[in-house]
Amino acid sequence: MAREKCVLAYSGGMDSTISTVWIQENYDMDVVTLSVDLGAGPELVGIRERAARAGAIESLVWDVRDEFVNEYVFPGLKAGAMYEGVYALSTALGRPLMAKKLVEAARQVGASAVAHGCTGKGNDQVRFDAGIMTLAAHGEPLRIIAPAREWGMTRDEEKLYAEKAGLELRQVGNDQRVYSIDRNLWGQAIEGEDLEDTWQEPPEDAYSWTKPVSETPDKPVEISIGFEKGIPVSVNGSRKSGVELIAIINDMAGEHGVGRVDHIENRLVGIKSREVYETPAAIVLHSALRALETSTMSREQQRVKQSLSTIYSDMVYDGRWFTELRTNIDAFMNSAHEYSTGDVRVRLHRGSCVVVGRRSPFSLYDFDLATYSTTDSFDHESATGFIDIYSLSARTQARKQTNSEAR
Ligand code: ARG
Repeated sequence: MAREKCVLAYSGGMDSTISTVWIQENYDMDVVTLSVDLGAGPELVGIRERAARAGAIESLVWDVRDEFVNEYVFPGLKAGAMYEGVYALSTALGRPLMAKKLVEAARQVGASAVAHGCTGKGNDQVRFDAGIMTLAAHGEPLRIIAPAREWGMTRDEEKLYAEKAGLELRQVGNDQRVYSIDRNLWGQAIEGEDLEDTWQEPPEDAYSWTKPVSETPDKPVEISIGFEKGIPVSVNGSRKSGVELIAIINDMAGEHGVGRVDHIENRLVGIKSREVYETPAAIVLHSALRALETSTMSREQQRVKQSLSTIYSDMVYDGRWFTELRTNIDAFMNSAHEYSTGDVRVRLHRGSCVVVGRRSPFSLYDFDLATYSTTDSFDHESATGFIDIYSLSARTQARKQTNSEAR
C-alpha cells in the first residue's frame, strides 16, 4: 500500500523546511508542499528545489493573489474590518484562504492530512484548524498536523533537522535582530525581539515598507482613488486590477511614512501581545472609503454598518471566516455599498494620510440644502414646528416630574 500523504503549507523558510523532514519521520507520511502566493510574500524562486532537498515528493506553487484581493481583502475593506480600530487584519484575512487551498490540494493529491507551521500560542492555529475542519466537513476527514505546536524542539535538535533538510543554519550576529514576520499584499505583521518590551519604541529595522517620517519627502503628494460600489478601481484616473492598485498605493504611502501601527493586541487565546504592522494601502483605502460613505450613506446606514464592522472584525480575527454569519454580514455590506461610487482625494505627507476631497454622483450632500448663501432651499419656518414636536416628551416630563428649573 502506498504511503499516506500530507500537504504542508510551505513558505520555504527554516521552520517549514524542517517540518518537511519532521513529518516524514514522525508520521511516516509522504509530504507534498503547497506554497501560495498572497503577494509580497516570501521569495518563491527556488522554493521547489528547497522542498525537494528536504524530501518532498511534490511541490505545488499557486498564485492566489487575485482571489485573495477579490474574495477576502475587498470584502474586508467594504465591511470596515479593522481589528480594535487599528489592525487591517492582513494576516487574519490570508489564513482562511490558505486553509481553503490546503484542503483543495489535499483532495487533489489524495492526502489524508494537512499541516501548517503555527505554534500553540497564536491566533493563526485557530484560523487554520477551524477553517480546515469546516471546509473538510463533507468529505473524508482530514488530519491536521502542526509540527511547531507538537515538536517542542531544542536549538540542537533543530540544528539536526536542518542538516537533514539540507539547510545551512543561518549565522546571526549578536547585534542582529530576527523578527517573526508574516506578510502578504495587504500588510505585514512584525513580532518578537525588542518589540516584546512595550515601553520601547520599535527599532527602525523592524520596518521595511515605510519610511521614518524624518526621511519622507518635504512635499506632500495627493492621490485620487476611484471607487465603484465600495471597491477601489482606479488610482489617479487610471484603472487598475485590485492587486496592482494595492501594490501601487503601498509604495506611494510607504514612501510618505504612512502605514505604521504599534498596538497592544488582544489575542483570541487570551494573551495580550505587542504587534507592529505596516499596512500602508490598507490605511489609505479604509480612510478613503470611509470618507466616501459619509456622503453616500444615510446616518442610519452608517450607524448599522459601524456596529456590524466591529462584529465582523472580531469574526475575521477569531477565525470565523467560514460561517453563515460572515456571509450574512457581507450581504448587508454589499447592499449598503450599492451607491459607494465616486472619487476620494487623499493627501500623504510626513506620515499622515488626510482626506481632502470626495465626490459622487450619488452623494446625499445637497449644496442648496447645506449652504448658508442665498441659494439656500432649506425651509427655516418648518424647523420651529419640527422642534416643537421633537422636544414634546422632554418638556412634558420636565413639567410633570421636576419642580424647578434648577437641575
Ligand atoms: N497578530 C496578528 C494576527 O493575529 C499577526 C500574526 C502574524 N504572525 C507573525 N508571525 N508575525 O493576525
